[in-house]
Amino acid sequence: MVENNLSPVSITSNLATRFIGQRVIYYPRLTSTMEVAKQEAQLGAVEGTVVIAGEQTGGRGRIKRAWLSPKDNIALSLVLYPSIVYLPSLIMLASLAVVHTIETVTGLRSQVKWPNDVLVNGRKACGILIESSIRGNIVDYAIIGIGINVNLKLSDFPEISSTATSLSDELGMDVSCLSVIRKLLVEIERLYLALQAGGSIYEEWRDSLVTLGKKVQVKSGKTMYEGVAESVARDGSLLLRHPNGSLTKIVAGDATLRG
Ligand code: BTN
Repeated sequence: MVENNLSPVSITSNLATRFIGQRVIYYPRLTSTMEVAKQEAQLGAVEGTVVIAGEQTGGRGRIKRAWLSPKDNIALSLVLYPSIVYLPSLIMLASLAVVHTIETVTGLRSQVKWPNDVLVNGRKACGILIESSIRGNIVDYAIIGIGINVNLKLSDFPEISSTATSLSDELGMDVSCLSVIRKLLVEIERLYLALQAGGSIYEEWRDSLVTLGKKVQVKSGKTMYEGVAESVARDGSLLLRHPNGSLTKIVAGDATLRG
């Protein structure tokens, strides 16, 4: 097993960021980093504060799913206070930061399945959950939760082994969670600062989507849609072309690739 000391100092020491990850709170075992990050944000934690768990006992996924989060993988939540105009871009920012990080640290190519699952060789290696508190036009806080299957042995988890993968299973060797976290924090800050400086990350996010041009089934709330994923709008919505030619704009949902 590679060195996986995730103490705050091992993460923050000489970390090449101005504020993302300069404050790290680490728990060996936690219900969910989302809960602690939310409490931190409500108490006015400095922007860029990161909550990391060695393992989570109640990891949460999107649409009320559970997120499997045993040790030797990454479970972290990041506290941000973005302007409301950047809120839709956080999904794009987080998934692109993960794609860049995986490639730099492991050499593996990954793709994004709309809206923000990161796939390696067609299977999910990372899930992202964004929760925010908004009042009128003011964002009180946004929490980006990122779970990466780093050293998960999928043979131990047959219930997800047909749809999920891990970096170590893909590479055939263990991967350092510390290296992945440090690179991820640098990447998130680079993209966040670029966004605030007026740059756009929409085009790169759109081009990294494995979903476009494919037949998909999308569950949004209680509605199930089927069609071809034609494009994505700048606000991150999916434009789905139905067999009868009509187009639906889906703001949030979960897509399954068909065939
Ligand atoms: C999904 O794909 O449904 C999103 C999964 C998000 C999991 C991460 S792990 C860190 C953070 N804490 C949680 O409880 N969930 C997110």
